[in-house]
Amino acid sequence: MSNQNSCKEIFITTPIYYVNDVAHIGHAYTTIIADMLARYSRLVGYDTFFLTGTDEHGQKIETSAKAKGKTAKEYADEVSGKFKQLWDDFDISYDKFIRTTNEDHKIGVQKAFEKMYQKGDIYKGNYEGNYCVGCETFFTDAQLIEGEGCPDCGRATSRVKEESYFFRLSNYEDKLLKLYEQNPEFILPKAKAKEIVNFVQGGLNDLSISRTSFDWGIKLPKSMNDDNHVMYVWLDALLNYITALGYGTDEKNMKYWPAKVQLVGKDILRFHAIYWPAFLMSLDLPLPDHIAAHGWWTRDGQKMSKSKGNVVNPKEIADAYGLDAFRYFMLREVPFGQDGDFSQKALMDRINSDLGNDLGNLLNRIQGMSGKYFDFKINSKDVKKYHQKELDEIDAILNNVEQYIFNMQLNRYLEEIWKVLTIANKAIGDYEPWAMMKNNQEEQAMALVALIVNIMAKVSILLQSVMPEKILKIANSLGIEINTDLYNKLIVQKDLVDQTTIVKIDALFPRIEQPLLPSADIQEVESKVEKPRKEQDKHTQDNQEEDNLITIDQFFQTTLKVGTIIEAQEVPKSKKLLKLQVDLGEGQTKQILAGIKEYYSANELIDTQVCVVANLKPAKLMGMESQGMLLAAKDENGLSLLRPESKKIAGTKIS
Ligand code: MSP
Repeated sequence: MSNQNSCKEIFITTPIYYVNDVAHIGHAYTTIIADMLARYSRLVGYDTFFLTGTDEHGQKIETSAKAKGKTAKEYADEVSGKFKQLWDDFDISYDKFIRTTNEDHKIGVQKAFEKMYQKGDIYKGNYEGNYCVGCETFFTDAQLIEGEGCPDCGRATSRVKEESYFFRLSNYEDKLLKLYEQNPEFILPKAKAKEIVNFVQGGLNDLSISRTSFDWGIKLPKSMNDDNHVMYVWLDALLNYITALGYGTDEKNMKYWPAKVQLVGKDILRFHAIYWPAFLMSLDLPLPDHIAAHGWWTRDGQKMSKSKGNVVNPKEIADAYGLDAFRYFMLREVPFGQDGDFSQKALMDRINSDLGNDLGNLLNRIQGMSGKYFDFKINSKDVKKYHQKELDEIDAILNNVEQYIFNMQLNRYLEEIWKVLTIANKAIGDYEPWAMMKNNQEEQAMALVALIVNIMAKVSILLQSVMPEKILKIANSLGIEINTDLYNKLIVQKDLVDQTTIVKIDALFPRIEQPLLPSADIQEVESKVEKPRKEQDKHTQDNQEEDNLITIDQFFQTTLKVGTIIEAQEVPKSKKLLKLQVDLGEGQTKQILAGIKEYYSANELIDTQVCVVANLKPAKLMGMESQGMLLAAKDENGLSLLRPESKKIAGTKIS
């Protein structure tokens, strides 16, 4: 580990959060990771700037505000305030909280638009296609599910036909491919890069970057003389990463650009790994070192959604279990990039085992031994004499962990540090200081206790970014102050704390025997999360399936039944939909809207049997309720409904 770059600037960003939602565990996850990176890089001595904020424009926000009877700005003020409050409650160490409704952001975005236009990267044309307001994303006909549904979230898209400005994204295809090739760590985890490369190789269309059908957005620069357009919300939003540093206004903080790490969830990787570098190239600005995409959190094995009412409120968890324990859990539980599951059981296990047994208990032992044998006064002068082997072993581990931080192997970082705690706990058992004291080997016993104190001090330095509050308590107990100087002394120079006086404190992580929140009481936050947006590239399906293996219990949460179609009608004005009444036995009939019109006529379906997902929440399609789904298989030869091989009683369960 080296501290050569102490004047180096490090810029770390989270996505800016939409203000039509309140913060949930997913938002907290990204923000906690970014906070850890920022705290770590400040401690090491880097000149660090950490940015977060809210994304406040666009049709989705305008519509949500109207539904609440508020102006878009009133609504944005309210929700943005809640995000900021939560981060303040969580002691998130951001240097700037940007709002895209800030005046200087608007000026910066307009300047960027002008520059791209002058460069010849923007032209005016007409857009005709499909828009998903929920995802604020344009899709071609070919990308839609069953001709209507958004391929990311499944909701109905709307047909848009309007004059629009376009960004020449197609011109950047080769440059982007070269970027990914020459910088294999531009996208982290590296496995995710493949999806993006495949997507770009599939060809990029120019990107529609303005809208005329609503107002809630940044106007085009005056020089364009075109007042009808507002900017596409993703152009506006992505540019926050430079306007926050003063791009186009007061540019003194532009020294922090390019970013070291830009954290995003896997659902918005495409915007950050394709559009964003293309915009930056157009602006002649350098590109970030890493776009790091994390996975999604589920709750007790299930996807979180407002309709299921199982969205985890991070504040409630942190209040019950402690903020630092929650931070540790989030960072340790899941390898970065993979999906993770939140359950109170998993959190309790981490607290009781890693934090209570390994870390907290070691501090107890230090307090006990130092108090009993040495009146709390510890001197390191003989540690090297008796424990060079252990020191070499732990320094070798600790000097090697920084790499795991900036390549986002955060769980690995913690695992390595825990190896050191194991060495310390084992040394106490192996050397038996109580026996040494009995045998009048006071010098050896002091060396051993001092070794443990030093290990604890070194580990604390490296855990400060993960659990700032608890580590402060440990530091107070060890009589040390964690700062860059101590980092240099103990980690970089592999030196020791000369002497210190231990202070007794209460147990840091008392054992938790029972869940602290009855599951049903975990308050639900309102959330827009319906389901993780599906990733773009079907080549990644196999990997995702491996990542998302389910248990048999999860499978049986889906009720599959044989149904008999008793009525079938075409849905007027829909190319794809048939409206079916399906008998599911015991007097139960469900109305199902199925996108199968191109493959089956209404008449031929009557009295035939189908396999039905019978416990699906109703959804509206073309204004009508659909209460289930038919199972079907589709390949290049067309679509076939799945049916029982021989007739079954309607309502027969499929397993
Ligand atoms: N406003 C855009 C980002 C613009 S950045 C220039 C946006 N906002 S969001 O509020 O919808 O999502 C913000 C982040 O939260 C995304 O990175 C998304 O991946 C993350 N998460 C939302 N739900 C999540 C989980 N259940 N689990 C983990 N993270 C998830 O997209």
